Amino acid sequence: MRIQGGKILTSDGPRPADIVVEGSAIAAVEPQRGGAPAPGDIDASGRWVLPGGIDAHTHFGMPLGGGLASLGWRESSAAALLGGTTTVIDFANPDRGEPLAAAVARWRGMADGRVLCDYGLHATVADAGIERLAEVPALVAAGVPTFKGFLAYKDRLMLSPAALGQLMAAVADAGGLLLVHAEDGELNAKVEAELVAAERTAPRWHPDAHPVESEVHAAVLALDLARQAGCPLMVVHMSAAGTLAALRRAQADREEGGPAALGEVCLHHLFADDAAYRADDERALAAICSPPLRPAGHGAALLAALADGAIDMLSTDHCEFALAIKANAAAAGFPRIPNGCGGVGERLVLSYTLAVCEGRLDPWRWQQVMAERPALLMGLAGRKGRLEPGCDADIVLFDPEARYTWHVAPGSDAAGSLWDGREVTGRVTDVWLRGARAVQGGKLCKAQPGGRFLQRVLDRTRLGSPTDRRIDVDGRT
Ligand code: URP
Ligand code: ZN
Ligand code: ZN
Repeated sequence: MRIQGGKILTSDGPRPADIVVEGSAIAAVEPQRGGAPAPGDIDASGRWVLPGGIDAHTHFGMPLGGGLASLGWRESSAAALLGGTTTVIDFANPDRGEPLAAAVARWRGMADGRVLCDYGLHATVADAGIERLAEVPALVAAGVPTFKGFLAYKDRLMLSPAALGQLMAAVADAGGLLLVHAEDGELNAKVEAELVAAERTAPRWHPDAHPVESEVHAAVLALDLARQAGCPLMVVHMSAAGTLAALRRAQADREEGGPAALGEVCLHHLFADDAAYRADDERALAAICSPPLRPAGHGAALLAALADGAIDMLSTDHCEFALAIKANAAAAGFPRIPNGCGGVGERLVLSYTLAVCEGRLDPWRWQQVMAERPALLMGLAGRKGRLEPGCDADIVLFDPEARYTWHVAPGSDAAGSLWDGREVTGRVTDVWLRGARAVQGGKLCKAQPGGRFLQRVLDRTRLGSPTDRRIDVDGRT
C-alpha cells in the first residue's frame, strides 16, 4: 500500500512524501510519485501524514472501590484511535500486598481481547518493601521498565522519602526509569483536614488541598533523591511553573553521564485552568484531578517548556469518570471524589488547535512530543513514533484545515468532559495500526486489527543527557 500525495512532518515543517507500507511495517518514505493512486493505494492529498500518537500516561478501565469506575479498555482505546493515538502506556496498580508481576498480569487480563490500540504498562510501586523491590529487575526484563512512585496520597499510595530513595536505587540498578507523582502527601493531608474541619467540602475546594508549594516541594525532593541514587527520573503531570523551574535547575546541574531529569505535561494542565472550580459544581467535578488545574499562566509556562525542550512529552493522564460517579462520591465531600479527567481522544486535535495553530509549538516539535519523544523515552524507539522504514505502520492522516465543534467519543460522558463543545481545528481522518486500517473517514472501522501488549526495552543512553536533549531539540531529526 502506498499513502500518496500527503505531507509528512519534518524539521522544515510539512514536506510532500509518499509512504510505502508492506504488511505491518513502513517499507519506505519516498518523494511523491504523483498521478492517480493505484487500486489499494491511499490518496492523502490535502492532509498531513503523522506517526501514530503515543500517550504514555493513561488509566483505562481503572478499578475503583471494587467496581470498574473509569471508562473501560475498549471504549477508551477506541477514543484513542479516533483521536490519532495508536499506542498508550497504562499503569498497573497492585492491591496492598500484591506482587507487581501479579498486578501487571491482572492489567493484561483486563486489556487483552478488549484493547483496540497497542499498549504498554508501567508498574505502580506503593510498597517499597524488600519483596517488591526484588521484583524490579524481572519486570524490566519482561518489558515493564518504567515504575511510578508517589509522594502524594497519604495512607494510600504515598512513599516516604526514604522508601522513594530505595525504589530509585532499585530502578537505577535494574536499568529502569522512575516516574514520580510529585505532591507532598503530608502537606496535602494537613490542608485537607483543615478544610474538612471548616466544612469546606464542596468540589470547588479540591484545589486548595493541593497547593502549588506542595508540588514544587515534592519535585525538588524527588529530583534531589534521584540524583543521589543515580536514577533517571521523570516528573509526570507537571502542573506548575515552580515545578518547571526545579526541573530546569536539575537539567542544568546534570553532568554528562548523570541520571536524566525528564518532564511530562498533560493536556488539561496546558489548556484548562482553575476557573473551572469556580464555575459551578458540575464543571468543578469534571475538573477534579491531581495535581489540580492551576491559575492561568502556569499552562503558558509549561507549553513554552514543551516547545524549548525542557519538557519532553505531552500526555493526558486519561482517567475518565462519568460525571455521575464523581457526583455520587461528592456527597461525602471532595476528598472522596475519584481523581481524573479524560483527554486521550482530544490530545492531538486540542494541542494542534491551541498550540500549533496559535504559533506556540512548531509542527515538527509537536510531532516529537506527541510520538517520537515518548517512543524514545519509553523504550519503543525503532518500533513506534516515527515514519521511517522498519517501524510499525502506525499512521495517521490529519486534515490541518478542518474547523468544527469537538464532541467526545461515543461512550464518553460529555458532561464530565473538559473539552466537549470546544471549537477546534484539525481532524483525524484515517488511522492505521501496524498497517491495518482502524479509522476511516473519521469513523472507527467495524473490523478492528486489535491492540497488542508491547514489551518495552529502554535505551538508558538516550534518556535525555544534556547532549541528547540538544540534539533532539536543535537537530530536529
Ligand atoms: O487525577 C489523576 N491524576 N488521576 C490519576 C492518578 C494519577 O495520579 O496519575
Ligand atoms: Zn499521579
Ligand atoms: Zn496518572
